[in-house]
Amino acid sequence: MHCWNLLCLLALVPQTALASVLAIDYGTEWIKASLMKPGVPFDVLLNKDSKRKIQSAVGWKRGDRLFGTDAANMASRFPDDVFTSFKYVLGAPYESEIVSYYAKISPADLVETSRKTVGVKQSDGTEWSVEELTAMQFAYIRQLAESVAEEKVRDVVITVPPYYSQFERDAIVDAIEISGLRTLALVNDGTSVAVNFAMTRTFTTPEYHIIYDAGASSTRATVVAFTPLDAKTGGPGTHVAVNGVGYDRQTGGIELDRRMRQILVDTFNAKYNKDVREDKKAMAKLWKEAGRVKAILSANSEAMSSVESLAWDIDFRAKITRATFEAACTDLKSRFVQPIYDALNTAGLTLDNITSVLLVGGTTRTPMVQDAVKSAVGADKIALNVNADESPVLGAAFHGASLSRQFKTKNIKVSDISIHDVEVSYFAAPTTPLSRPRSITTLIFPAGSKGGTKKTLTFKRKEDFTLFFDYKHLIAPGYPQRIFESEITGVAEAIGNLTERGAVDPVVKATLLLSESGFVSVTEAVAYGEIKDDSLTGKLKGLFGGGSSSSEEATSTENTPPRETNTESEAEPSSSPSSSSSSATPSPSANDTATEKKKALAKEDTIKLKVVTTFPTIPPMTVDEKKAARGRLRAIDAEEAAKNRKEEARNTLESYLYRLRDLLDDEDRDTPFKKCSKESERQAITEKLEESFSWLHERGDIAETSQFLDKRITLEAMEKPIIHRYQEIEAFPQALNNSQMWNWSTRLFLQEARQNLTAEMEADLPSKWTKEELDALEKQLKEHETWLHTWVEKQKTVKSNENPVIETAEMKARAKVLEQNLMKLYRRKVPKVKKPKVTSTPEAEPTSPAGEEAKAEGPPAEEQAAPQTTEAPVPQDQQEPLRDEL
Ligand SMILES: *[C@@H]1O[C@H](CO)[C@@H](O)[C@H](O)[C@H]1NC(C)=O
Ligand SMILES: *[C@@H]1O[C@H](CO)[C@@H](O)[C@H](O)[C@H]1NC(C)=O
Ligand SMILES: *[C@@H]1O[C@H](CO)[C@@H](O)[C@H](O)[C@H]1NC(C)=O
Ligand SMILES: *[C@@H]1O[C@H](CO)[C@@H](O)[C@H](O)[C@H]1NC(C)=O
Ligand SMILES: *[C@@H]1O[C@H](CO)[C@@H](O)[C@H](O)[C@H]1NC(C)=O
Ligand SMILES: *[C@@H]1O[C@H](CO)[C@@H](O)[C@H](O)[C@H]1NC(C)=O
Repeated sequence: MHCWNLLCLLALVPQTALASVLAIDYGTEWIKASLMKPGVPFDVLLNKDSKRKIQSAVGWKRGDRLFGTDAANMASRFPDDVFTSFKYVLGAPYESEIVSYYAKISPADLVETSRKTVGVKQSDGTEWSVEELTAMQFAYIRQLAESVAEEKVRDVVITVPPYYSQFERDAIVDAIEISGLRTLALVNDGTSVAVNFAMTRTFTTPEYHIIYDAGASSTRATVVAFTPLDAKTGGPGTHVAVNGVGYDRQTGGIELDRRMRQILVDTFNAKYNKDVREDKKAMAKLWKEAGRVKAILSANSEAMSSVESLAWDIDFRAKITRATFEAACTDLKSRFVQPIYDALNTAGLTLDNITSVLLVGGTTRTPMVQDAVKSAVGADKIALNVNADESPVLGAAFHGASLSRQFKTKNIKVSDISIHDVEVSYFAAPTTPLSRPRSITTLIFPAGSKGGTKKTLTFKRKEDFTLFFDYKHLIAPGYPQRIFESEITGVAEAIGNLTERGAVDPVVKATLLLSESGFVSVTEAVAYGEIKDDSLTGKLKGLFGGGSSSSEEATSTENTPPRETNTESEAEPSSSPSSSSSSATPSPSANDTATEKKKALAKEDTIKLKVVTTFPTIPPMTVDEKKAARGRLRAIDAEEAAKNRKEEARNTLESYLYRLRDLLDDEDRDTPFKKCSKESERQAITEKLEESFSWLHERGDIAETSQFLDKRITLEAMEKPIIHRYQEIEAFPQALNNSQMWNWSTRLFLQEARQNLTAEMEADLPSKWTKEELDALEKQLKEHETWLHTWVEKQKTVKSNENPVIETAEMKARAKVLEQNLMKLYRRKVPKVKKPKVTSTPEAEPTSPAGEEAKAEGPPAEEQAAPQTTEAPVPQDQQEPLRDEL
């Protein structure tokens, strides 16, 4: 069953305040992002050029920072200042094979950071850690997202390759923090594709699929089981479980590019007997050309390579055939396929168990790679029905939305695994003071362990000791195996305390976590013991089943998922009393008599111990380092914003100056500007204008933003009276018409009203107005007429390049006053009863019952007030001519 509209998968939970969730598929060559926000269609985020993907590049062009394609396009001109594909070396030790490999494909000047990781150096000597470069990209994407969301975006889910070690995961999280975002989760990219696959499908029986992702830098295969969830297992929905992963860290599209470039280099060198590798810019050009030729060869059997003025002024041209290219890559064919076999092996499945192989990643479009996969799994198993480019980011966004719990999503449960064996080791407590310490090693999180697993280790120790966490196998050549060390301190005091209080054989318990995002950590360490409580209260408590289990103990048991209750005990001969018995503490309500009796005599207690973790190999960034990095990024942001403001002020001034010059230069025609300005004014503006122009040319590059504004304000002040005259001339006819219209309407009204009033008085009928009111209106009208007449005549004599003597705004205001007074009388209703008269017209009287009579008094009452207001203008009227004379 398919659901084509992605929106139908997402419904909002209305009452909560919703925050957006950002998902980033952080690739070596391309970055894709997606934003989950109520009211915003769920889709891939577009960059400012409306492209659905962003090239992974950060660069500087004469001090201006560039991102995406803007940066990548500068790579051959500024090879020292444009950095691409640095995801290769994120979290990698400086002295590792991947870094030497990266140095082969990137012209970047690499430096070693204080943390023994990789940084880059710009041509001006500025150094950036790869985490900082990555953070700049994340911040750039955050800005894109915020402009779409129209609000702050904080929470982010980022895809990582499943083979990422803790060092690399730390580097991503550090970059996220530097960028000002908050990590909701890291999700393995194959897993997010699986989630995206499950989003639009319903499974009736369990199915296995392989997500085959050949990307720019590496190739991954993930075996995923899709199982329907029924009512018992929390359904309806789908359980997406990763069963096995295979990978090759260094086989991907970029390696194909590198081999293609090698063909081009060899061709050039052979033809011209030179070494083009000495020329950084030429190598950067060839790098771009290699990608282009590779793409052509995906669809054609041969391609023409052509680079103008490549080096030594030589225009390079060569014909490259697909056969040549494939011959240079023969060894890679098996490397592209091997991850599939490895993934099946770790999952314990064969190809027969697999329903389909989903191809994702740009490199799966290369015919050689597609052919290799087809011949390995059979063409009928290949599924091209997922969006090869966007399913990782869409799956990650969906995953993020379900994690944030703010969206009601289709029910998809995800279990992912860690693929590296993690061991913990420690030195056994010395049996005699002189004996050499014996090291004990336990495979604590074997490959295949599910994310979110907690394990508790129990130690019979009396002194502080250290746990060493290591990868059992080499993660990648040159990587350290030691992840971190955690010293558990304060043991002697805590154990002493428990012993003094009567605890029998107190122990130390450490809780270790393999998080959903793939991080290993020590979450807690405690000293623990059962304290015999011989006091009367203790005994009474026991009798009545009083709770004696400490709350900490209860939580730690709860936190351990039932399927993972894998409490390991120390392998020492004098091991702690069977760890399971102590941790499987019955809850206080349990009333098994045996336990009850035992508990009556024992009081358990825990004392929290301090855990001090150190990173002897590749440390994550410290809080201070991250703060400093964030400060550096903010400083560039602020600098760029100021630069943009200045640039804008300068451009605005410049175009204003040109516009003004055009107005002044139009000498021959009778332009409004000319009509409304005096020679002297134009002269003054011209002088100031030329002065501003030369200032702009001489000092424009070093001037401050405010100076650009000042120049413009000065000129605008000179231009303003001219514009005003012109505007007044334009507006005058309309204003005059308006005034005359009210003059005319008032006169018409007065004429009719006076007739009606006379007729009504004769017929002894109630009237809407009094004679005084009409007289007052007429007086106002006459004054208005006089004013209008006088000033219109005066205005007629004013030249177009002189300031007007009456403002249209005042004309409108005066007409408005007349209009209001007219309308007040005009809208008045006929009073039902003529108040002072008791004997009224027979027609009117019977139709108004007594009740209505009272109500009808309302309007006349208002009217009584009205004459007072109409009388008020008298003193005003006297003032008005005065004001006009001024
Ligand atoms: C995998 O396939 C084999 C052979 O067809 C079969 O025996 C086995 O049960 C399958 N395993 C699963 C988990 O479906
Ligand atoms: C043991 O620890 C508890 C709680 O921290 C404290 O109140 C008590 O005084 C300590 N006893 C000894 C003997 O140190
Ligand atoms: C012991 O447990 C049983 C069943 O769980 C319950 O019915 C009974 O009331 C409990 N007795 C006491 C004393 O708590
Ligand atoms: C005045 O305005 C009225 C209505 O807008 C219009 O019909 C009339 O032509 C105008 N007269 C002048 C002189 O602009
Ligand atoms: C004058 O009286 C006539 C007839 O009753 C009425 O139609 C007209 O609206 C009145 N005029 C005014 C200005 O109230
Ligand atoms: C006001 O209106 C009357 C009648 O329409 C007209 O004779 C007079 O000239 C107008 N006055 C002015 C100042 O426009």
